[in-house]
Amino acid sequence: MHDFLLRLYFGQDELKKERKELFQNYGGFLGLFSQTAEDGDYYVIPHSNDSLILTNSGGEPNLLWNVCRHRQAQLAYGSGNAKEIICPVHKWIYDLKGELTCAKGFEPTPCLPLTKPLFNFNGALLSDERLRETMAKTPIISSVNFDRYSFHSHEVVEYNCNWKEYMEVYMDNYHVGSFHPGLKTLVDCSKIEWHHGDDYIVQTLGFNKNFYRGPGSMQFRRYAEAIQEVHGRKQWEFGAVWAAFYPNVMIEILQDCMMLAILLPVSETKMVMHSYVYHIKDLGKENEITAAYVAAMNEVESEDLYILESISKTRYEMFMTGQEDTGPCQDVEEFGVALWQKYIRNFHESKTQ
Ligand code: FES
Ligand SMILES: [Fe+2]
Repeated sequence: MHDFLLRLYFGQDELKKERKELFQNYGGFLGLFSQTAEDGDYYVIPHSNDSLILTNSGGEPNLLWNVCRHRQAQLAYGSGNAKEIICPVHKWIYDLKGELTCAKGFEPTPCLPLTKPLFNFNGALLSDERLRETMAKTPIISSVNFDRYSFHSHEVVEYNCNWKEYMEVYMDNYHVGSFHPGLKTLVDCSKIEWHHGDDYIVQTLGFNKNFYRGPGSMQFRRYAEAIQEVHGRKQWEFGAVWAAFYPNVMIEILQDCMMLAILLPVSETKMVMHSYVYHIKDLGKENEITAAYVAAMNEVESEDLYILESISKTRYEMFMTGQEDTGPCQDVEEFGVALWQKYIRNFHESKTQ
């Protein structure tokens, strides 16, 4: 059943098909409305390789191409607040709705807008209507009010593994107890629930009732103390909610914090992950809970990095020497791994669109 998976992970033809059919819109999740909450705010989207920009014009969010319609120069950089977008090269001017308002020497001004379709789901800004429909029917996620969250920070990290292996490890709870000494004191893996459909998986983990009694790592102790300072010894409904929207979007919801993560392939053995951290607005920009959350997640990511790079190295060697072995999936804690592998098999067995 699993004997052809290594080719699906490392084959060049497979990577070509994925690039063509899965990554044209970078996953479709752009960010949250709160990243450009005020009139005039803009935010260039890093995981689009700066080719897309979110703007706020008169209180309304817009998705624009961040590429000049004249000679295709990059228009804006980073984030900020502005009245209009001026191309650095020949100074064409666009308003924040994306209309070209001035093109010196061209009479009349050509109609060359930057506008792209944008969909808003409870404060999450999306470029893909199908993703909005999926989120609307996804348990737990469908009731998240993303407007409650403020943007904290963005980070991009490169991994020496295939992007599908990252998703596989994200779906694997089997290693949490054995490999994450800090994280396992926050989540109770005996209380795991899976919700899944054709294009999503959500796993919910119980809240570990021993969380406040000496967590198993410095970073998670700091996180527990920060939460206790604000909420007392609150018993949360979930230790963690980990959602994945196929193929490459992940949403993690922990106590007062949320992370949006997006994977992009670089080659068959390299990928980058863009992660965006958000926190509940009331906490304020500088708060210890979010700082502690980021430190705790850095700990988990460095542990996962070890797993990913170790697995990927040996698997790739097997692939290159014509060997196949992928092993069985544990019924409960690796339920999502089996679903993920099935999704990848189905995708590659389907005809090219
Ligand atoms: S490239 Fe932008 S105005 Fe010419
Ligand atoms: Fe992990």
